[in-house]
Amino acid sequence: MTPALPSFRRRLSVVALAIASTTAPQTLLAKVTVDEANKVFRLDGADVTYAIGVDEKGYLQPLYWGSSLGKGEPLLARASKELSGFDPAGMQTAQEFAGQGEGLVTDPGLKVTFSDGSRDLVLKYRSYRMDGQSLVVELADIERPLTVNLRYAIDEQTGVITRSATVTNRGRAPIKIESFAAANLTLPGATTYQLHFLSGRHAAEWSPHAVVLSPALTVLESRRGSVGHGNQPWLAISRPGQTTEESGPVWFGALAWSGSFRLSAQTDNIGRVRIAGGYNSHDFAWTLRPGESLDSPRFYAGYSSSGLGGASRAFHRFQMDQVIPGGRQAKLRPVLYNSWEATAFDVTAEGQMKLAERAAKLGVERFVVDDGWFGQRNDDKAGLGDWTVNPAKFPQGLKPLIDRVHALGMSFGLWFEPEMVNRDSALYRAHPDWVLNFPGRPRTEGRNQLVLNLARTDVRDHLLSVLDKLLRENDIQFIKWDYNRNWTEPGWPEAGPDQQRVYVDYISNLYHILAELRKRHPGLEIETCSGGGGRIDTGIMGLTDQAWTSDNTDPYDRLAIQDGFTMAYAPAVMMAWVTDVPNWANGRTTSLDFRFLSAMQGGLGIGADLNKWTSADDETARNWIEAYKGIRETVQRGQLYRLVRPTDGASQTATFYVSPDRSQGVLFAMQRSSEWRDQWEATKLAGLDPARRYRARRLGGGQLPDGVPSAASGAYWMSHGVTLRLRGDYVGLGMVLEAAGADQSGNLRH
Ligand code: GLA
Repeated sequence: MTPALPSFRRRLSVVALAIASTTAPQTLLAKVTVDEANKVFRLDGADVTYAIGVDEKGYLQPLYWGSSLGKGEPLLARASKELSGFDPAGMQTAQEFAGQGEGLVTDPGLKVTFSDGSRDLVLKYRSYRMDGQSLVVELADIERPLTVNLRYAIDEQTGVITRSATVTNRGRAPIKIESFAAANLTLPGATTYQLHFLSGRHAAEWSPHAVVLSPALTVLESRRGSVGHGNQPWLAISRPGQTTEESGPVWFGALAWSGSFRLSAQTDNIGRVRIAGGYNSHDFAWTLRPGESLDSPRFYAGYSSSGLGGASRAFHRFQMDQVIPGGRQAKLRPVLYNSWEATAFDVTAEGQMKLAERAAKLGVERFVVDDGWFGQRNDDKAGLGDWTVNPAKFPQGLKPLIDRVHALGMSFGLWFEPEMVNRDSALYRAHPDWVLNFPGRPRTEGRNQLVLNLARTDVRDHLLSVLDKLLRENDIQFIKWDYNRNWTEPGWPEAGPDQQRVYVDYISNLYHILAELRKRHPGLEIETCSGGGGRIDTGIMGLTDQAWTSDNTDPYDRLAIQDGFTMAYAPAVMMAWVTDVPNWANGRTTSLDFRFLSAMQGGLGIGADLNKWTSADDETARNWIEAYKGIRETVQRGQLYRLVRPTDGASQTATFYVSPDRSQGVLFAMQRSSEWRDQWEATKLAGLDPARRYRARRLGGGQLPDGVPSAASGAYWMSHGVTLRLRGDYVGLGMVLEAAGADQSGNLRH
């Protein structure tokens, strides 16, 4: 017989109020609540509730993840039992973090082999504690000395949960880890779910895909050693028929890891969605010696009831507040010039100075010298590894150029690709054993280069000291950190039978170098780049200030690339350049206006050969750069509404950015082609304050399009919308709405 439950009030003990008192409105609470008697743990943040609880057999079960529930609502773990002889209790029970044992047939949190060959791992609840604002729940194997600590925190602003796991060997014999996730997650069954993910290839990153989840396991992974241009360590799950861009439920997750990763999702035997995300178990193994622990990466998990757009905005906000260095104090991205598409390897002090002079006149704020300044780097066959200034190209070192750039009022940036080496380099000649390799086997090259084995501490220390020295000796404000191939022979001969840990040690050392450089050089900013967008994830995002989105700089392709990118990641870090035409990637010629309007939707950069620009081009660029400076805070820090997406198949697409205080809105409408004297639909804006009046102006100057009023209420812009009759191919238009202060009387104050 089930005993009558005592009143919830008596059973409830609030062990941590991270933010507010209990009198604060529920939607502003970020807290962890523990119901000691029932062993139920509840996290509340923004408008999200997440709950887990221990059942009578000791399994830690996921109980709820969705819109916030009222205080004291009943949440109890159900009794775990077998479904049939074929589906034992341990497998049937959705576990918050499952050990591979008891016939589990979905992806586990942890799979190990003990020293006696046993591979049965059954994790049950042991204890909990609070560590600051984080809840730590300890699970232990039912008999062996192995524990897993699950760590949880919830963000008050967005309800995004940060999870991670730590496995510890508390015994006397080594344990082999074969698979280790940061989190398992479960969604209730009896409904249809759709999985959204992003994939691509070099110069064609960030394509959105969607598949209906089914019993067929869907795996999003990288086996490349690095994240790569393929699948992203991000996913979102929606309900077809209920979820749109701006409405309906979306659960999303991202792994903060820049190496080989694995996210998997499937429906189980009763239709529940089972998700696992962590290190990729492919080719991975880790020996956990007595007393040792291994941490998983962080896994961020969020929920929105406002569709895919709402999910993106919540995650953008979380990234800006909690992930990117400096958080809310992070500086806005300066307008950047980069020499790569202009000069390629033909870099000289004189040539760069000329470009810098021209860039400064346009209003550029940061000048970056790309590949070609070091070693014998005259093409991509030599020089990587030798991070000393090429004396033929820079006879007096970098100083005269850096001084000139500074005198022109710009900060100075430099390109590096620290993890790589060409065979034709002094470094490789001195240390051929420093690259990833299997002895006696070919060393496959990619772009004529090999990958240094950063897992080795001597390689890590070498790179750190070389970079540190360059930064100490030169007044450099920014580095572009590139990575232009993936792993082929992931061997680490010196580590012998332990070498499969290279996947984790390599990335941990990469993070160590980045963190150490930031510590030793406060104010230094770093861009993550890997042949464009091959290494962007919420792990590296925590150590870098911006990301090079794609080597594809065609402004039309970019609209789709930026649309996909922003599904997962914030425009705050998304760099976009205006480059020359015909574009290198596809030969397309577009107007300078169109190129600017496309690139202004993220962090604006110029990557063109300015020597070839006419004075009319300069004038156009100056005008757009000035206009950008007036809206960049909204673009970089605001809320993004993808009003008409490239995936909608429309010829005209539109994005709208709204500043956090809703005082400014910026619309970009971009048209691929005019067709059949198009019938224009009104574009309805979003995210404005319906009661405030907003004055409209055309971005960059000029007249508002026909029929667009010069001022109207937020409600008007959102319900009536604007009809933008664009004519021609590859044309665009920007429009800025500015609120007339807090005055709600309808009178404009300016
Ligand atoms: C990669 C980057 C480019 C450029 C080149 C230099 O492809 O994505 O922007 O830096 O390397 O070799």
